[in-house]
Amino acid sequence: MSLNTKRIIIAVIGLFFLSALLIVGGIESNKRILGKKAVIKVSATSESCVDCHTVTSPSLVEQWRDSKHAIRGVGCMDCHQAEKTDVDAWEHEGKTIAVIVSPKDCSKCHARENEEFQASHHADAGKIIGSLDNVLAEVVEGNTGRLGLDGSSPAAISGCWQCHGSVVKIGKDGRPTPATWPNTGIGRINPDGSKGSCTACHSRHTFSPVVARQPDSCGKCHMGPDHPQKEIYEESKHGIAFKAFKEYMKLDAQPWRVGIEYTAAPTCATCHMSATEEQMVTHDVGRRISWNLRPPISEKIDAKAIKAGKKVESWEQRRKNMKNVCGKCHSEKYVDGFYIQFDSAINLYNEKYGIPSTKIIKMMKAGEILTAIAFDEALEWTYFYLWHHEGRRARHGASMMAPDYTQWHGFFEVAERFYIHFVPEVREACEKAIQKGGKSATAAKEVLKELDIILNKEEHKWFLGKMSDDEKASRKAAADEFKKRYAQH
Ligand code: HEC
Ligand code: HEC
Ligand code: HEC
Ligand code: HEC
Ligand code: HEC
Ligand code: HEC
Ligand code: HEC
Ligand code: HEC
Repeated sequence: MSLNTKRIIIAVIGLFFLSALLIVGGIESNKRILGKKAVIKVSATSESCVDCHTVTSPSLVEQWRDSKHAIRGVGCMDCHQAEKTDVDAWEHEGKTIAVIVSPKDCSKCHARENEEFQASHHADAGKIIGSLDNVLAEVVEGNTGRLGLDGSSPAAISGCWQCHGSVVKIGKDGRPTPATWPNTGIGRINPDGSKGSCTACHSRHTFSPVVARQPDSCGKCHMGPDHPQKEIYEESKHGIAFKAFKEYMKLDAQPWRVGIEYTAAPTCATCHMSATEEQMVTHDVGRRISWNLRPPISEKIDAKAIKAGKKVESWEQRRKNMKNVCGKCHSEKYVDGFYIQFDSAINLYNEKYGIPSTKIIKMMKAGEILTAIAFDEALEWTYFYLWHHEGRRARHGASMMAPDYTQWHGFFEVAERFYIHFVPEVREACEKAIQKGGKSATAAKEVLKELDIILNKEEHKWFLGKMSDDEKASRKAAADEFKKRYAQH
C-alpha cells in the first residue's frame, strides 16, 4: 500500500467518524427546542425534583433546562421551597414546598422588578369585586349560589379572574383550591399576601424575555370589545412593521434597547416597559402614560392622587418618558403633533359624550327615575356600551394610531349610541315618570331641561335641526362639489 493510499483511507475513515459525530450532535441539539447549550448544575436540594419530574412531566423540566435560571443554578427548590408555617406549605416527597410561587418569592432575587410591579396598577387589578363590571359576572351573567363553585361564579372564575386575578385559597391538603387556581391573573392575591403574578407575562418554566416581549403576551388580556389594544396595535403601522421584521427584532437580547439592539418596530413592551439609552426597564406600566382612558370621563393619570393629597409622578413627566421612546424613531415635532391629535380626540369624547351622558344618568339615579338595581333597565346597558365599550374603543384607537378603531368601531358607534338610543331612552323614561307623578316626576322635568341644554350646545344642535344658515350653506356647497367630482369616475 502506498503512502498516498494509506492517507486516503485514513482521511475517509476520519470523515466517516466526523459526520457520524455531526449527525449525533444534530439530533442532540434538535432535542433542545430553544437550542441553548449549557451544562446544567442542579443544586442538591432540587436533584430529586428534577429526576422524578423528568419522568412525570418531562416538558416542564425541559423548559426549565432551557432557562437562564437553570444555567445560573436556580433550581426547583429556590422557587418552590416553603416553611412549615407557611399557609400554603405542602409536604411533597419528603420536602416542604409551595405550589404557588408568588412575586414575593421571586423578589428574593429580583427585588427591583417586584417593587416596581407592586406599585403599578397591574398589581391592583384584583380589586374589582366592588366594580359595576363585577355585578355582571356574579349576578347578571352568572351565579354565586346554586350554580356557583365554592360560592364563586363560574363566569368570574373562568373569565374576569383569569385576567384580573383571584384570591388564591389553600385547601386542607395544602394545595390551592380549584375554584381559585389555576390562575395567573395579573393582580392575583397570593396566600402570602403579596399581589399579582409574574407568570402573567413570564410564562413558566422558561421565563424567557422572548415571550414577555411579544405583543401576544399582553394581548391575552388587552383585547376584545372594551380594551382592544392588541387589535389596535395590529392595525397600526407599528404592528405592521413588527410583523414584517420580527426576525430582526433580537427578542432574546439582553439588554434590549430601542435604537441600539433593534430599530425595526416598537412592541407593547418597547413603549410601556423596555429600556432606552436613557431609561431603565420599568415594571410599572403606568410610568409612560398620561391619561386614564378607562372611566366614563377620561382624566389625567395623576388626577386621583392629587385629589387625595398624595404625591406621585406627574402626567407631564410620564409623557416625557414616553416621548423619549418615540424619539428613537421619530422627530420631536412629529411626536408633538401626534399628542395634539390624541388629546383633541379625548377632549371631544369627554366634552361631547362622556360628561353629558354621565350627568344625565347620575340625575336619573338620584331622582329615582332609574331603579337602584344595576343593569335591570335598557338605558343602563345603553350607557354602559357608550362609555365602557364604544367610548373606550374611540379613545384607545386614538392613543395608539388605529384609525378604524377611532372611527368605525369608535366615534361612529358612540354617536349612534348617543343620538339613536341614549337620547330617546332618556326622554321615554322621563315622560313615564312624569305621567306617574310624585317625587321622580319633578326630577324627570329637571332631567329633560338638562337634556335640552345639552342638545342646544353648538356640537349637538344639528340633531335638533338648528344648524346655523352659514354652516348649512357651506356644507351644501361641499356636498355638491363632492357629488360632481365622484360623478366623473
Ligand atoms: C418521586 C417523584 C416526585 C418527586 C421526587 C417530586 N415530585 Fe413533584 N409531583 C410528582 C407527581 C407524581 C405530581 C403530581 C401528582 C400530584 O399532584 O400529587 C407532582 C406534583 C408537583 C407539583 C404540583 C402540585 C399541584 O397541585 O399541581 C409541584 C409544584 C411539584 N410537584 C414540585 C416538586 C418539587 C419542587 C419537588 C422537589 C422537592 C418535587 N416536586 C419532587 C412527583 C414527584
Ligand atoms: C424561577 C422560579 C421557578 C423555578 C426555578 C421552578 N418553578 Fe415550578 N413554578 C413556578 C411558578 C411561578 C409556577 C406557577 C405557580 C403559580 O401559579 O404561582 C410554577 C408551577 C409549577 C408546577 C405546577 C403547575 C403546572 O404547570 O403543572 C409544577 C409541577 C412545578 N412548578 C414544578 C417545578 C419543578 C419540577 C421545577 C424544577 C425542575 C420547578 N418547578 C422550577 C416557578 C418556578
Ligand atoms: C434564587 C434566585 C432567583 C429566584 C427565586 C428567581 N430568579 Fe429569576 N433569575 C435569577 C438569576 C440568577 C437570573 C439570571 C440573571 C442574568 O443572567 O442576568 C434570573 C433571570 C430571570 C429572568 C431573565 C431571563 C432571561 O432569559 O433573560 C426573568 C424574566 C426572571 N428571572 C424571572 C423570575 C421570576 C418571574 C421569578 C419568580 C417566579 C424568578 N425569576 C425567581 C435568579 C432568581
Ligand atoms: C381578557 C381579560 C379580561 C377579562 C376577562 C376582564 N377584564 Fe377587566 N380589564 C382588563 C384589562 C386589560 C383592563 C384595563 C384596560 C385598559 O387599561 O385599557 C381591565 C379593566 C377593568 C376595570 C377598570 C379598572 C380601573 O382601574 O379603571 C374593571 C373595574 C374591570 N376590568 C373589571 C372586570 C370584571 C368585573 C370582569 C368580569 C366581568 C372583567 N374585568 C373581565 C382585562 C380583562
Ligand atoms: C406586564 C408583563 C410583565 C409582568 C407582570 C412582569 N414582567 Fe418582568 N419583564 C417583562 C418584560 C416585557 C421584560 C423585558 C424587558 C426588556 O425589554 O428588557 C421583563 C423583564 C424581566 C426581567 C429581566 C431583567 C430586566 O429587568 O430586564 C426580570 C428579572 C423580570 N422581568 C422579573 C419579573 C418579576 C420578578 C415579576 C413579578 C414581580 C415580573 N417580572 C412581572 C414583563 C413583565
Ligand atoms: C408606539 C408606542 C406604543 C405601542 C407599540 C403600544 N402602546 Fe399602548 N399606549 C401608547 C400611548 C402613547 C398611550 C397613551 C399614553 C397617554 O395616556 O399619554 C398608550 C396607552 C395604553 C394603555 C392605557 C389605556 C387606558 O385605558 O388608559 C394601555 C393599557 C396600553 N397602551 C396597552 C398597550 C398594549 C397591550 C400594547 C400592545 C398590544 C401597546 N399598548 C402598544 C403607546 C404605545
Ligand atoms: C393577565 C392579564 C394582563 C396582562 C398579561 C397584561 N395586562 Fe396590562 N392590565 C391588565 C389589567 C386587568 C389592567 C387594569 C388594572 C386596573 O386598573 O385595575 C391593566 C392595565 C394596564 C395599563 C394601564 C396602567 C395604568 O397605570 O393605568 C397598561 C399601560 C398596561 N396594562 C400595559 C400592559 C403591557 C404593555 C402588557 C404586556 C407587556 C400587559 N399590560 C400585560 C391586565 C393585563
Ligand atoms: C422602533 C421605532 C418606532 C418607535 C419607538 C415609534 N415608532 Fe411610530 N412609527 C414607526 C414606523 C416604522 C412607522 C411607519 C412609518 C411609515 O408610515 O412609513 C411609524 C408610524 C407612526 C405614525 C404614523 C401612523 C400612520 O398610520 O401613518 C405615528 C403617528 C407614530 N408612528 C407615532 C409614534 C409615537 C407617538 C411613538 C411613541 C409613543 C412612536 N411612534 C414610536 C416606528 C416607531
